[in-house]
Amino acid sequence: MFTYRIDAEVELRLLELQHLQEFFDLSYGSRTHIGEWMFWIGEDYTLEDARRQIQLSLDRFVANDGFDAGIWFRGELAGCIRYRYLDWKHKNTELGYWLGAKFQGHGLVTKACVAMIDHALGELSLHRVEIRCMSENLRSRRVPERLGFTQEGVVRQVRWRRDHYDDHIVYGMLADEWQARKRQTISSEREG
Ligand SMILES: CC(C)(COP(=O)(O)OP(=O)(O)OC[C@H]1O[C@@H](n2cnc3c(N)ncnc32)[C@H](O)[C@@H]1OP(=O)(O)O)[C@@H](O)C(=O)NCCC(=O)NCCS
Repeated sequence: MFTYRIDAEVELRLLELQHLQEFFDLSYGSRTHIGEWMFWIGEDYTLEDARRQIQLSLDRFVANDGFDAGIWFRGELAGCIRYRYLDWKHKNTELGYWLGAKFQGHGLVTKACVAMIDHALGELSLHRVEIRCMSENLRSRRVPERLGFTQEGVVRQVRWRRDHYDDHIVYGMLADEWQARKRQTISSEREG
């Protein structure tokens, strides 16, 4: 239903049922890596679970309450990024993301976040974007940190992981901060 080209190699596409098999193969193939931090996937994850997940995302899209987009890299589905919800009253949203194991290290999620933040704080006129990472998920935490988010707080012991409760680190970006950051990037590119 929509596609958004980020650069010559990377494109976002609304996740649809036509992508079911590719989505299942990618997520199930990386279940150990993803399941380390995200709890919707494990050994017992099925094609039917994947179908339900895509349908729920499409339902949210129709209800104007967010959506999941696939991240395509060189024509292959590499991962997903989502607005977990769109809070129109308070004008905020939260991003979630994951990549298939072999697609890490190319900057794909960082680029996808930039596109989704631009869209949220630009076209959608939202005020705030949040990203929550488990405190031990250092690779994920590097994404909002790389993008200049502010670490705002800690939700203590909110997720059970293996043998203990882990904290959530809450990162936030406000619309005026994002615009200032973009202006700064543009002026330093001109100077450089
Ligand atoms: C979290 C996760 C998406 C991060 O993946 P990632 O590949 O590190 O993130 P990006 O796609 O933004 O890539 C950044 C990496 O690519 C490198 N890179 C290469 N080109 C780049 C570019 N143009 N821009 C930014 N980074 C680039 C960066 O140096 C960085 O590597 P480093 O952290 O070793 O320095 C991935 O580890 C994952 O899917 N984990 C499991 C699921 C999960 O934890 N989801 C998040 C739950 S909160």
